[in-house]
Amino acid sequence: MLTFRKAISTDFEFMKFIENKSFNEIDRFKTYQIKYFLKNPNNSIITDIILADDKKIGWATYFTNKKAKWIRLYTFCIDPLYRGKGYGKEYLKKRLKEFSKKYKKIFLEVRKSNVSAIKLYESLGFKRKKILEKYYLNEDGFKMVHCFGENL
Ligand SMILES: CC(C)(COP(=O)(O)OP(=O)(O)OC[C@H]1O[C@@H](n2cnc3c(N)ncnc32)[C@H](O)[C@@H]1OP(=O)(O)O)[C@@H](O)C(=O)NCCC(=O)NCCS
Repeated sequence: MLTFRKAISTDFEFMKFIENKSFNEIDRFKTYQIKYFLKNPNNSIITDIILADDKKIGWATYFTNKKAKWIRLYTFCIDPLYRGKGYGKEYLKKRLKEFSKKYKKIFLEVRKSNVSAIKLYESLGFKRKKILEKYYLNEDGFKMVHCFGENL
């Protein structure tokens, strides 16, 4: 069964391990950034650990603001050993259902070449809003937006 829970400080090693397996050096978060997500000093960061049958298989971080009506998916990764099995989609679908009760929209940025992620987001109702030129230094990105109440 696919579940998720709030990340805690002892998840750090797992998060770093999956991060290193999932992103190239340009995109990878540094140790201090992952620790910052976990510390969440302003209460504006949500970090989930994703579990399949109680085994940790991935994590995701979101940014928001106390009174904001939006939320931003900042990073999302599934262990390569568990990809392509529908876990990423199932997790995000559950998460979006929860967020839809609180927020009006969710947005994210994604590399233009990250076809699997773009397809996943589009299958959940995200739309390509604009091209972000050289957002990733060596490549353009898309800003994708999903307005709750549409296509979910
Ligand atoms: C993006 C990511 C989280 C998806 O997780 P996942 O568990 O593998 O995704 P799922 O198995 O749930 O696939 C969901 C959908 O994504 C798309 N997809 C997944 N793998 C794909 C592939 N290799 N090629 C094309 N589409 C793919 C499909 O639309 C699929 O839906 P379908 O099976 O109904 O056709 C995972 O690939 C990952 O961690 N990638 C590296 C990190 C990353 O790029 N994160 C996103 C940053 S914006």
